[in-house]
Amino acid sequence: MKERGSAFGYRSIAKQSCRKWIWDLICDDEIGDVAMMPSIDGREIFEALERGYQPFQLHVIDRNPAVVATLQRIYPGIKTYGVEVERAFERMTRNGVRLFAAHVDYCSNVSAKMWGSLRRLAIEPCQWDCMLFVTVLRGRESWTNNIRRFMAQKGPAGMFRDLKTRSDMWHSTEIAPTEFDVLRLSMLSMATRRFIDQVHPYKSTNGQTFMTVRFCPLKLDHVNTIMKISGEAAQWQRHVRKNG
Ligand SMILES: C[S@@+](CC[C@H](N)C(=O)[O-])C[C@H]1O[C@@H](n2cnc3c(N)ncnc32)[C@H](O)[C@@H]1O
Repeated sequence: MKERGSAFGYRSIAKQSCRKWIWDLICDDEIGDVAMMPSIDGREIFEALERGYQPFQLHVIDRNPAVVATLQRIYPGIKTYGVEVERAFERMTRNGVRLFAAHVDYCSNVSAKMWGSLRRLAIEPCQWDCMLFVTVLRGRESWTNNIRRFMAQKGPAGMFRDLKTRSDMWHSTEIAPTEFDVLRLSMLSMATRRFIDQVHPYKSTNGQTFMTVRFCPLKLDHVNTIMKISGEAAQWQRHVRKNG
């Protein structure tokens, strides 16, 4: 039998330990509304229910409406969104849903599209308190189309160096972080305008490596700091342009 894929679910031991890592962290604190993309076999739904969540607190997203329809039959009472993740978050925002936590499991490479979608969902004021987990595939970026452009537009070299020295962010040292991970982290962090405080890299049975990161909820003091830093950066840029 095929072991992974959206038609079958994701059954490796590494993926299961990542799920456990995420849901242990989420449930360590308190319980509120949570969003997830559990795929057809719904293992993340099981993880949440096992830790005391009620079905009505679970917002289940999949761009394939058939997947969420199936999950709703298996887990009556869950809320479902058979649309793209950013549309689902827009809908939640409109309906006044304030998420306590979300796991956005794209399982695809960091791309301009992902950057845009993360940005839209993370900066919604009503989601500022949300503990946000994002899973991405490592090592499949289109270098020329994506990373290089981001680097040119956004990436101050100092930010990469800082992140690189923060080895305490790596939950597991089994799969060593690379310079590209540092780049991926910076891009994700820029997209969400949040700080990453936990990282969990893992390898699937077919050899692909992934990375799940946790972003701290955006607090007002973070917003103030970010605005202050960007204000100072803009001032500095003006100064450099004027004086060379
Ligand atoms: C990698 S699987 C999720 C695995 C699951 N979290 C687990 O622990 O087993 C990703 C699922 O999300 C859906 N998906 C991927 N990208 C999406 C997007 N941008 N919007 C909505 N659904 C998406 C896919 O159809 C797939 O079922």
